[in-house]
Amino acid sequence: MAFEFITTQLSERQRDGYYRQRTCVDYERDGIIAINGQHYLNFGSNDYLGLRHDQGVLQAWVEGLAQFGAGSGASPLVTGYSVAHRELEAYLAEGLGRDAVLLFNSGFAANQAVCQALFANAGEIFADKLMHASFIEGATASKASLKRFAHNNTGHLSNLLSGSVSDRRLVASEGVFSMDGDSPDIATLVNTANQHDCWLMLDDAHAFGVTGQHGLGSVEHFGLSQNDCQIVMGTFGKALGTAGAFIAGSHALIDYLVNYARHYIYSTAFPPAQAVATIYALNCVTTGGQRALLHNNINYFKTRAESEGLALLPSDSAIQPVIIGEPGRALMFSEQLARRGLWVPAMRHPTVPKGTDRLRVTLSAVHTAKDIDALIDAMVLVREESGRGID
Ligand SMILES: Cc1ncc(COP(=O)(O)O)c(C=O)c1O
Repeated sequence: MAFEFITTQLSERQRDGYYRQRTCVDYERDGIIAINGQHYLNFGSNDYLGLRHDQGVLQAWVEGLAQFGAGSGASPLVTGYSVAHRELEAYLAEGLGRDAVLLFNSGFAANQAVCQALFANAGEIFADKLMHASFIEGATASKASLKRFAHNNTGHLSNLLSGSVSDRRLVASEGVFSMDGDSPDIATLVNTANQHDCWLMLDDAHAFGVTGQHGLGSVEHFGLSQNDCQIVMGTFGKALGTAGAFIAGSHALIDYLVNYARHYIYSTAFPPAQAVATIYALNCVTTGGQRALLHNNINYFKTRAESEGLALLPSDSAIQPVIIGEPGRALMFSEQLARRGLWVPAMRHPTVPKGTDRLRVTLSAVHTAKDIDALIDAMVLVREESGRGID
């Protein structure tokens, strides 16, 4: 039978506890999510600053719609690139101390584009073992040979680099890892890449908007120049509350991507109104008080979780994973928390390595101390009822 693998592979996923289904959200706002008519405290969103519903961001989007229309109308090299896109690029380039910036429809597309365009013929990519699937898929599909170094292990990276020969080598890591919430030792990473004459790329999806004096992410937080980190990727769909992504770097890099990145050239540009709203969101990030609220919540969650003996990973970010270890149990914990009015998604293989199936708690500026208390109390109760796990 044609395409028989479809049913076989789906049954395998079901058998192993890794089958995925979508959850349709009725409504989400101010830390509350409604699903199938039930309301929950939401600990599963990447809207770290609560900007998705910020009145100013919404108003800016509406004004953008009135000025530019609903969509961009074309791909960027045809007529889809507007003054709103250009303004957002210039704003980012200046803030990040980069020559230039290029906007993409998503972080997935941006990561794929870098891999495809820079490694169309040859080269070597050295990626942290826990890099996001959007980068790893891109690297695998490129003509580069992909080598993965143990998570945050610059010694292992150095060994791999010592044995390499290509004149086209890229080290890739994340500012804040999407599933573990931790960060690499950036200074050592920069030195290691530098010593071996490699470029460094940081996927800053989860740090952009959150860390750094003005919230501009790892580049600002660690003072990384364009020579330290040649490719910066950031997304707008998480802390900024809108959607889309960017690559920042040298004039030559951006010009090259404009000419060779197929994900950029052959895709309709995102709506100019989205760029207008994103500029507004960036202003909120730099001047608003949301980041301070988020950091207070992170500290409060960690202190309470530690005092209850809940085992956390070494994360100081809004992503606070609680490892369960088996897919069925991770789902069970998530369901038990939902029964108590708390929405905490379970993350299972292949999104995370086998045996590290987990709850992925994400904190936001919109949470109150009482919300966090409710979460911790429920986790403790579920742990007691289950007799094992979450510690
Ligand atoms: C680390 C990381 N990189 C890239 C992406 C992809 O970004 P986007 O959701 O904008 O496609 C994500 C998010 O899903 C991510 O967590």
